[in-house]
Amino acid sequence: MASTPEILHVGIDLGTSRSAISASNGEKFVVDSFVGWPVDMVAKKVLKRTVLIGHDAVANRTMLDLHRPLERGLLKEGSEKDVEAVRELLRHLLGLVGVSTNGKVDASNVRAVVGVPAAALRTNKQYLRNAMKGIVDSLMIVSEPFAVAYGLDALLNTMIIDIGAGTSDFCVMKGRYPTEEDQRTLTIAGDSIDAHLLKLIEERYPQANVTVYMVREWKEKFSFVGEPKGRVTGTAPVHGVPTELDITNEMKAACETLLGPTIETMLDLLSRVEPEFQERVRNNIILSGGGGLIRNLPQSLETALKQVGGGRVRYMEDPVFTGSDGGLALAMDAPDTDWEKLSA
Ligand SMILES: Nc1ncnc2c1ncn2[C@@H]1O[C@H](COP(=O)(O)OP(=O)(O)OP(=O)(O)O)[C@@H](O)[C@H]1O
Ligand SMILES: [Mg+2]
Repeated sequence: MASTPEILHVGIDLGTSRSAISASNGEKFVVDSFVGWPVDMVAKKVLKRTVLIGHDAVANRTMLDLHRPLERGLLKEGSEKDVEAVRELLRHLLGLVGVSTNGKVDASNVRAVVGVPAAALRTNKQYLRNAMKGIVDSLMIVSEPFAVAYGLDALLNTMIIDIGAGTSDFCVMKGRYPTEEDQRTLTIAGDSIDAHLLKLIEERYPQANVTVYMVREWKEKFSFVGEPKGRVTGTAPVHGVPTELDITNEMKAACETLLGPTIETMLDLLSRVEPEFQERVRNNIILSGGGGLIRNLPQSLETALKQVGGGRVRYMEDPVFTGSDGGLALAMDAPDTDWEKLSA
C-alpha cells in the first residue's frame, strides 16, 4: 500500500544577487542569482552542460549567455530567456532540497513561500505565478522584508529595513499581513553603490583598469559611512602594472548615497505609524540584507532618529537565510486557505 506522500514546505528568498531556499526537511542552500546558457557549440563542448547556475555561471561567464533574473527589484519580463532564467533558478533551488521529477519529493507535494522585493510583489505577481507553474503545487508570494520579520518573530511594532543588491525594502509590522502603505522600495542599494563607486574611481584614476566586479569586492571588504577607520585601498592595473589606489573618499561618498534616501523613507514610514506606537517602532528597527553590513550604518540611522525622539537600530547577523527561513516558518504556519493552488 502506498503511504500518503508528505508535504514539503519551503521558503525561497528570490534575490537580485543571491537566492536562498530553506526546506522543512532541514536542507538549506544559497546560490548566486545568475543563469547562463553556453553561447555556441564550442562552449557547450567545453562546459558539458546545457545550463549553468549560480557561482558556476559567473565563473564561466565568458562562454555563456548570462542572465540575472532580477534587476532593480523587478523580475525581468522582456525576453523569453529572462523568463526561462527565473524558472531554471527556481527549479535549481528546489532540486537542491530534493524536489525533482524523479527525486525524493515530487513537485505536486511542495508548498512554497517566495519572498520578493516589495516592488516585484506589486508588478510581477502574475508573472512569478506562471514561472512557478509545474514547479510547485501551492504558492504564496510575500514581500522580502515581511518574510524577514516573520522569521524573526518581529511581527508587532517593528520596522524591517532590508538592504539588498537591487533594492532597499522597508516594512512596518503592525501584527498582521502588511499592506501597501506599510511598505516601501528604493532602488538605491548595493548595485547602485557599486555603479557609483566605479564611476568615482574611474574619474579619479582614468588610467586604471577597474571593473564592477572588483569594485564590489572592495566594497564588501571596506564599506563604511561616516568616519573612516583608516585608509581604504584597492589594487588595479594601470598600463598593465598592478597599482595601489587610495579610494577612501570614493568609498565613503558611494556608500553615503544610501544614507539620505534611507533616512527619509524610515522617518516617513515612522510618521505614518499611529502616534502611541511610534516610540515602540523607533526602538525596534531591524536592519538586514548584505547592504546592512556597511560599517557605521546602524549608528548613522540612530543619529538621524534623534530628531524624532531617538531609537534603536539592530543589525541581524547571518542575513543569508533570514528571508528564506522566515518564508519557511510562514509556510509551516499558513492555513490551507492562505495558499494559492497552481494546478498545472
Ligand atoms: N560587507 C558589506 N558591505 C557592504 N555591502 C555588502 C557587504 N556584503 C555584501 N554586500 C552587498 O549586499 C548586496 C547583497 O545583499 P543581499 O544578499 O541581501 O541582496 P539580495 O537579496 O540578493 O538583493 P535584493 O534583496 O535587492 O533582491 C550586494 O550588493 C553586496 O555587494
Ligand atoms: Mg534580499
